Amino acid sequence: MAYTNILVSENDGITTITINRPKKLNALNRETIQELHDAFEEADEDVETRVILLTGSGEKAFVAGADISEFANFDVAEGANLSKKGQEILFDFIENLSTPVIAAINGFALGGGLELAMACHFRIASDNAKMGLPEVSLGVIPGYGGTQRLPQLVGKGKAMEMIMTASMITAEDALQNGLVNHVTTPEGLLTLAEIIASKILRNSPLAIASAIKAINANFEDGVNGYQVEIAQFGYCFGTDDFDEGTTAFLEKRKANF
Ligand code: COA
Repeated sequence: MAYTNILVSENDGITTITINRPKKLNALNRETIQELHDAFEEADEDVETRVILLTGSGEKAFVAGADISEFANFDVAEGANLSKKGQEILFDFIENLSTPVIAAINGFALGGGLELAMACHFRIASDNAKMGLPEVSLGVIPGYGGTQRLPQLVGKGKAMEMIMTASMITAEDALQNGLVNHVTTPEGLLTLAEIIASKILRNSPLAIASAIKAINANFEDGVNGYQVEIAQFGYCFGTDDFDEGTTAFLEKRKANF
């Protein structure tokens, strides 16, 4: 599919999606959100793709937020709809994807940009990255899941402080608080993402999809995550990947999933 605001490339099981509006610091306008939805859907359905990397183009930004120029004149209903639709088609969509998604944060990840990174399954960052949820400085709150996912990752107190102060934190601070898993140089960021992805590629895609479902169940209202784990654990026993994984172990060879 041809896109205007994103770039998509596939190599050895890894699909890289790059948000490509560097002059606007990769801000998420409506069209970019729709294109990202389409690209994630396409990558998830592509049997060749086993890991998805998400990053921003240019040296300055991952994503500097939702595109403020698009919603500055919205009324109450339009504001609520912006949040609802975005959560449905992109943020929740990514979180619940069967294919692992790693955010490679290469600069500013602010507002909707940090929310996008937090919707990914985990995050790594370059040492020049700056992260924050500055929405209250605009008279609004995070609307793409930020009030929910930030406390899940950094704890309630740190999330309260970050959101109330609208301040940015450094990559090192993000690492110490569990917001990102690794920090490296800007030049080394995609290489590190690919090294981590290559470790994921060795493992059963079906088991990974089940693990994503079970882990996410811990954060869903009214869902017993232990019950989801039991169901997914059982499901794995009926898959070809389980046959291959256990047989390979017993035959002292590497599994070929
Ligand atoms: N929405 C729309 N446009 C944005 C944007 C956003 N969230 N973030 C940056 N841009 C645009 C700027 O308007 C500017 O466009 P212009 O050249 O046509 O004027 C361009 O991107 C470059 O940004 P600029 O502000 O000139 O860069 P900077 O280095 O001085 O500052 C930031 C960088 C990230 C500190 C600053 O752009 C910023 O505060 N952005 C908004 C962050 C935010 O509040 N995000 C949450 C939105 S909910």
